[in-house]
Amino acid sequence: MAIVQEFVKNAEKDPFFRTLAAVLQRHQIQAFLIGGYVRDLFLGRPCKDIDITVIGDGTRAAQLVADELGVKGEVHIFKNFGTAMFKYQDLDIEFVGARKESYSNLSRKPAVSIGSLADDQNRRDFTINALAISLSKEDFGSLLDPFNGMADLHVGVIRTPLDPLITYSDDPLRMMRAIRFATQLNFNIEPASFQAIRTQKKRIEIISKERIADELNKIILSGQPSVGFKLLRECGLLPLIFPELSALEGVETRQGKSHKDNFFHTLEVLDNLSGLSPDLWLRWAALLHDIAKPSTKRFDPDQGWTFHGHEDKGARMVPGIFRNLKLPMNEKMKYVQKLVLLHLRPIVLAKSEVSDSAVRRLLFEAGDDIDDLMKLCQADVTTKNEYKQKKYRANFELVKQKLVEVEEKDKVRNWQPPVTGELIMQEFNLKPGREIGLIKNAIREAILDGIIPNEYEAAYAFMLERAREIGLTPVNKK
Ligand code: CTP
Repeated sequence: MAIVQEFVKNAEKDPFFRTLAAVLQRHQIQAFLIGGYVRDLFLGRPCKDIDITVIGDGTRAAQLVADELGVKGEVHIFKNFGTAMFKYQDLDIEFVGARKESYSNLSRKPAVSIGSLADDQNRRDFTINALAISLSKEDFGSLLDPFNGMADLHVGVIRTPLDPLITYSDDPLRMMRAIRFATQLNFNIEPASFQAIRTQKKRIEIISKERIADELNKIILSGQPSVGFKLLRECGLLPLIFPELSALEGVETRQGKSHKDNFFHTLEVLDNLSGLSPDLWLRWAALLHDIAKPSTKRFDPDQGWTFHGHEDKGARMVPGIFRNLKLPMNEKMKYVQKLVLLHLRPIVLAKSEVSDSAVRRLLFEAGDDIDDLMKLCQADVTTKNEYKQKKYRANFELVKQKLVEVEEKDKVRNWQPPVTGELIMQEFNLKPGREIGLIKNAIREAILDGIIPNEYEAAYAFMLERAREIGLTPVNKK
């Protein structure tokens, strides 16, 4: 097997693998590479996480290897799990004593006992993750593949080593992992396995939101995220883990008028966007851009289906969704919220005459996120009508050009008021209060509407004018 030969050849020159093999031999320790590293080796995917299964004491082996490598950082030892981890250069290395696991119904934490390599491979989630490579001197590089994981890697199948009903019930996170791997690797889930996920879907309740969100993020970050969300829908997990997204599905027809299926539209937008940006949070914005469509849907006999205000309501739904999925409640969430709120604006501009003031307002509100917003809007064009597609694309180019022109001229992208509140207070000897806000807002609106340029002189003159109108006199003119 060419890949293994290549690995053995490289390992002889590699400081980590050379040291590892030498220590294992010196101390007569039997150990195996296992899990994701082996899988990714055969798939040609780069992998910096190395999992090693040790027959016997994993923590002692880790300590010996770390000492020999001269590892500077700490070796983290988890005695209860017989696990030890350390970092070496850019690698994350984990040693585990080979183990046997038995699960109870109430938790995904198994009872663990010392086991053989075969026991350890038995407890693994998928055949492609149960491949092991020997690290012993006498058979270094030989492959141990009791479940035909290699064949599954070749044809691209996700299959559990044991009965899938038991594997998924034991550790329901594996249902999410199956779908995530299928999406990342473009593999199929074996039909019996997929059926078992359908049967066991309710067990997902015992999995923490953080772990579910981790898997969702990995699906979102993959090349074609729609694959994962379609599988989640098909097996019935989606309404359990992400009801808001699930609620987008369906088409209603009244008086011969239908709306599009917002679930599949959303997935198309997400896939389109994935071709434009690798950013997780921009992809989240794509996933959530129409999230309030079900709750804002109305039927109007003249206009047909409307979703008025879905961008505003959608933005207000974002914190609840993030909180529920234990996603960060920080500036990432605010960014997603902002993009959801503004997602229609460039489209509206692209459909109509583009006025300078509309472009200025958009720049002012989007700030530095304007380029991301433009990407989201571009991805949102899912019409199959070629004429419309061309027209939108041309108009988008026009909007982009206008954005550059207006920004060059007016500098409103990171707008700072040319006349500050402090200056207004000083000029009119005011304490903080309503008038200052009024004047500041009036100046901002005048700039955005193009009544005055975005400059100090003009803003100062405008301030004096507005102040006079509300009966204020500058102190130095008294
Ligand atoms: N594993 C498992 N069941 C789980 C999680 C992990 O059986 N719920 C096993 C698999 O053999 C897996 C290995 O532990 O290959 C390492 O797990 P992890 O590092 O979480 O995943 P990887 O397979 O390495 O893949 P990724 O890094 O993409 O998550």
